[in-house]
Amino acid sequence: MTQVRTTKPFIEVLSGRRQPVPPIWMMRQAGRYLPEYREVRAKAGSFLDLCFTPELAAEVTLQPIRRFSFDAAIIFSDILVIPHALGREVHFEVGEGPRLRPLDTPDQAEALGARADFGKLKPVYEALRRVRRELDPKIALIGFCGAPWTVATYMVAGQGTPDQAPARIMAYRYPQAFTKIIDVLVESSIQYLLGQLDAGADVLQIFDTWAGVLPPREFMRWSIEPTRRIVEGVRKKAPDAKIIGFPRGAGALLPQYVETTGVDAVSIDWAAEPSLIRDRVQTRVAVQGNLDPVALIAGGAALDQAIDDVLANFGNGRLIFNLGHGIQPETPIAHVDQMLKRVRAYQG
Ligand code: CP3
Repeated sequence: MTQVRTTKPFIEVLSGRRQPVPPIWMMRQAGRYLPEYREVRAKAGSFLDLCFTPELAAEVTLQPIRRFSFDAAIIFSDILVIPHALGREVHFEVGEGPRLRPLDTPDQAEALGARADFGKLKPVYEALRRVRRELDPKIALIGFCGAPWTVATYMVAGQGTPDQAPARIMAYRYPQAFTKIIDVLVESSIQYLLGQLDAGADVLQIFDTWAGVLPPREFMRWSIEPTRRIVEGVRKKAPDAKIIGFPRGAGALLPQYVETTGVDAVSIDWAAEPSLIRDRVQTRVAVQGNLDPVALIAGGAALDQAIDDVLANFGNGRLIFNLGHGIQPETPIAHVDQMLKRVRAYQG
C-alpha cells in the first residue's frame, strides 16, 4: 500500500519552511465568542465536565474549524487538568475563573504527587482521537499543557490574581518546597504531552501565561529551566515532536528562552519588539503571533492596520499568524472573518 503524505502548512513552518501565506489559528479559538460554543457549554454541566466528555470536547474543538477553516485545531481542555489529576480540588466559577484549594505551605508541597491519578486525563486523549479522525489531514492538531510556573501560580494562590504574587512569595520564601511543586509538574507534563502525541496531536504548545511577572533570574529558574526539561523529556521518547513555547511577557528575555529551551517556535505577545524578534528569535525558530486581541474587538481600519503590521514585521520569515493572547468573549465574529480574509490575501 502506498502511503499518501499530506503536508500541513502549519507543520511545514515549524519544520523550517516558510509558507507564502502564513498558517493561521487563534489561541482560545473554541470559546464564548461563538454562539455554538455557548450552546454546548450550557448543556455540558461544569466546565470540567465539558473538558472530560470526549464527544463534547471534540465537538467544540471542531466548531471554529468548520466556521473559519483555520490551519490548526487546538484540543479543548485547560491547563488546570494537571492539578486536577494531582488530586488538587479544581473548579471553575462561571464568569470568574478557576478556583483551587490553595497550596501554600512546604508540607503541602512535599505531599504533592502522592495522590496523582493520570487516568483522569484519558478523556482528553479520547477527544484527541475523535478530532483526528474527523479533521482534514491538512489541518494540524495541537495538544497543550501549562508551563510549570504558570500552573504553579494557580495552585499556590488557588485562583488568578493581578500579578500572581502568592507564588512569587512562596518561591522566594521556600525555594525548596517550590522546587518540589515544579518538579512534580515537569514530570507530569512530560507524561501528559507524550500521551497527547500518542492520541494524535501533531504539535504541542506550552502556555506560560505568567512568565512576564518574573525578574530575569527567577525567569531563568522557574520558566526557562522547567520548560527546557519538558522539551528534553518529550524528545527523549518522541525525538521529532514539534513544540511551541508561549512565555507571555518575556520581552527582552525571548532570545534566551528560545536558545535554552529548544522549542521549534515561540508564540509572542503584542508588546514584543519587532526588530529584536526578527534579528534574534525568528533567525532560530518560527514565530507565532501577535495581533492585539483588543484590535480584533475594535475592528475597522485599526484592525486592518494591526494585521498589516504583523505581516510587515514578521511575514518575511517563518510566521504562524495568531493573536498575542487568547480571543476575548466579546469579539465580533465578523472581525475574525475580516482578519482571515486579509491574512489569506497576503502576497508574501
Ligand atoms: O485555545 C483553545 O481554544 C483551547 C482551550 C483552552 C482553554 N484554556 C479553554 C478555556 C486553552 C488552551 C486554555 C489554556 C489556559 N487556561 C491558560 C493559558 C492560556 C491563557 O489564556 O493565558 C490559562 C492561564 C488557563 C486557566 C484558565 N482557564 C483561566 C484563567 C480561565 C478563566 C478565564 C476565562 O477566560 O474564563 C479558564 C477558563 C477557560 N478555559 C474557558 C475556556 C474556553 C472559559 C470558561 C467557560 O467557557 O466556561
